[in-house]
Amino acid sequence: MTHPTLSSNVSQTNPKATSAHTETIAILDCGAQYTKVIDRRVREMQVATAIYPVNVSADTLKKELGENLAGIILSGGPNSVYDEGSPQCDKALFDLQIPVLGICYGMQLMAQTLGGTVAKGKTQEYGETNIHQSPHSESPLFTDLFQNPDHAEQVLMSHGDHVSELPDGFTTLATSTEHTGQEDTIVAAMGNANRHFYGVQFHPEVELTLHGTQMLKNFLYNVCNVSGNFQLPNRLETLVEDIQQQVGDRDVFVLVSGGVDSSVTAALLLKALGPERVYAVHMDSGFMRHQESDLVCDALKAIGLQHLRHMKVADDFYNGSTDYDGTQVGPLKEVTNPEHKRRIIGDVFYQLTQQAMTDADCDIENAFIAQGTLRPDLIESGNRDVSATAHTIKTHHNDVPVIQAHREKGLIIEPNRDLHKDEVREMGRLLGLPEALVIRQPFPGPGLAIRVLCTNEPYLSNESDLAASQLNALSEPLGLEGSILPVQSVGVQGDGRTYKHLAILRDTNKSPLSNWAELKKLATHIPNKIHAINRVAVVLNSNLPEVEPLVTDITPTTLLPETVDILRRVDHQVQQAIQTLPIFKSISQLLCVLVPVSVNPQQAVGNNGQSSSNRYTIALRAVVTTDFMTARPAHLGEELPVEFMQKLADDIVERHTEISGVVYDITSKPPATVEWE
Ligand code: XMP
Repeated sequence: MTHPTLSSNVSQTNPKATSAHTETIAILDCGAQYTKVIDRRVREMQVATAIYPVNVSADTLKKELGENLAGIILSGGPNSVYDEGSPQCDKALFDLQIPVLGICYGMQLMAQTLGGTVAKGKTQEYGETNIHQSPHSESPLFTDLFQNPDHAEQVLMSHGDHVSELPDGFTTLATSTEHTGQEDTIVAAMGNANRHFYGVQFHPEVELTLHGTQMLKNFLYNVCNVSGNFQLPNRLETLVEDIQQQVGDRDVFVLVSGGVDSSVTAALLLKALGPERVYAVHMDSGFMRHQESDLVCDALKAIGLQHLRHMKVADDFYNGSTDYDGTQVGPLKEVTNPEHKRRIIGDVFYQLTQQAMTDADCDIENAFIAQGTLRPDLIESGNRDVSATAHTIKTHHNDVPVIQAHREKGLIIEPNRDLHKDEVREMGRLLGLPEALVIRQPFPGPGLAIRVLCTNEPYLSNESDLAASQLNALSEPLGLEGSILPVQSVGVQGDGRTYKHLAILRDTNKSPLSNWAELKKLATHIPNKIHAINRVAVVLNSNLPEVEPLVTDITPTTLLPETVDILRRVDHQVQQAIQTLPIFKSISQLLCVLVPVSVNPQQAVGNNGQSSSNRYTIALRAVVTTDFMTARPAHLGEELPVEFMQKLADDIVERHTEISGVVYDITSKPPATVEWE
C-alpha cells in the first residue's frame, strides 16, 4: 500500500460513503498535497467523496461504494510514472464503466495504464500558464470554458512529465506551449468521450486555475451526471444516525474549548443523544477572549445541554509550575521564557483534564470521549502539514492517560470527522448555535498567554545598533522612519524558528501607509537584508512623536491577570471594530499582541514600570491563509482602509491609558509566524 497511514485514517472518514442514494466520487490519492483541496471542492459542489490509496482494487470500490460510485478522480502526485515504486492503479478501474478524471500525475497514470506514453519533462517548472482549446474538440469537461477570443484558459500547470502519446480512443482537448522552453506543444487535456475518461495536466482544484471550479463541476454534473444530493441538512440527519449507532446506550464526555469545532461536536451529540447522556466540561483558563467562556456555555445551555461543568481555573494556571528538563519553573505569573510558559500551561491543562474526567458525573470508564477532529485533520495526519508547534501542543493536550485508555478500547468518537471547516460553521448554524460562536476564528490552546510578550530586560544584541542604521537606510527614501524595538518575536526562516528583533516604521509624510505595494516590498526586503530582524510593523497612530532609531527601554512584564486583562479589553475592541469591514470574513485570524515597550518617548516610564500609563504597544495582526503553513497580512490601504485603522489606533490609545501606540504587522509567514511568541 502506498500510504498506509493516510489510507487507514481516511477510509474511516467515510462512514457515509456507502449509505443509500449518496452519489460518491472516489478520490484516489497519488500522494498529492492537493488531495484535501480536491475533496473540499467536490463536497462544496454537494457531491460526497471517499478517499482511497491509489492502488485500491476495483473490487473494493465496488464492494464499498456499490451503486453510489459515480466517478473516480485520480489525484496529482510528486512521482514520475516510470519511477521504481511509483504509485500504480488497478487496471480494472477502467472496466467499471465509471467516469474517470486524472489530474496531473493521475492523467499520466491513466495514459500509461491504458497504453499511451509519458515523456520525461525537461524542466520541472511550476506556475500559471495558458492552455488553448484544440480545434473541433468540444467536450462536456469544458462546457462554458474557453469563451474568450483566444480560446485560452489560465491554469496552474506542473511542467514535469507529460503525455506524449495518447492511449487508443483518446483525443487532445487542449494544449500548452508556454514555459516548456521548447517549441513543441504538450497535451494539456485529453479525453475519451465514449468511455467518459478525461485527463488534465494541470490542477483544476486550485484557485490559480481561474475556472477550475467550473471544470470540476462539468466533470461531476456533465460527465458523471450526479444530482448533487450531498447537502448539509441531509448530512445532518445521517451524522445523527451515525452517532446514535456508534454510541449505543453509553454516555459521552466532551471537553468544549470555546472554539467552533468542539461546540459543534457537543451540539451534534446533544441532537443525537439528548441531554441526559452528554457530559460537557469547559475550562476557563484565564486566557480566554472577552466573555468567551460565557458565550460558549450560554450557547450550549440555550440549545439544551444540561450536564455542563464550567471550571473557573484561572488561579490554577497563573499559579501553576512544572518541571522543565530537571528544573522547576513557575509560578506562571512570574516567568518570562516563552517555552516555560507553554510547558506550564500544557501541564496544568493536562492535569485538570485528567481531574475533570475522573470527577465527571457519568461512568467515565465506559463512556465515549468526543473530540472535535475535522476531516482535513484526518487527511493531513498522514503527511502532517500543520505547524510543528501547534501539533506538539495539541498532542500534549489530548494525550492524557484516560484518553489513551479510551482510544485503546475504541471509545473515542469524532462526530465532525466528515466535515471541512466551512461545513462545521454551517452545521453550527443548522444546530442553532449563535452566529458570534459560529464565526469564531481559530484560537491557540494557550490563548492570550502567548500574546503577551513577557520579558525582564531589553533584548539588545551586538547586531542591534547596526540593524538600526541599516533599517533607516532602507526606510528613509520612502518617507518612513524605522526603529528597532528591544523585544524578540518568533519567526520561521529557512528550516528553523528564529527569535529576532521587531522593526517598526513610522510615516513622516502620510502617503506611504496607503501605498501597500511599497510597504509589502519593504516588509520582504528588510528581513532579507537585515538578519537581526524577522518582523516589521507600521505605526498606525497619526499623532505619535518620533521614536528613537533603537529603543532601549522595556516595561518588565509577566503574565499577571491584570496585564492579560489589558490585552483582552483591547482585543475585544479590535474584533468589534474590524467585524464591520467587508474583509472580515476573509481574515483567517485577527489578533492583538501586547508588546512591553512604549513607543511614545514623551511619556515613557522607563524600566521601573511604576506608572500604570503608557507602558505598552499593541500590535495588530490580520492574516489571510488557507493552511497556516504560509500566510499573508491583510493589505493595509486596500482591505483595511488606512483612515479606519488610524482612527481605531487613536481610539485604543485614548481609551486604554496603558497603551502608548498601535502598530500593524505587515510581515508574511515566512519570515514571521502568525503568533508572535
Ligand atoms: P504560527 O504562529 O505557527 O501559527 O504561524 C499557525 C497556527 O497555529 C496556531 N498556534 C498555536 N495553536 N498552541 C496552539 O494550540 C500553540 O502554542 C500555538 N502557536 C500557534 C496559531 O494560532 C495559528 O492558527
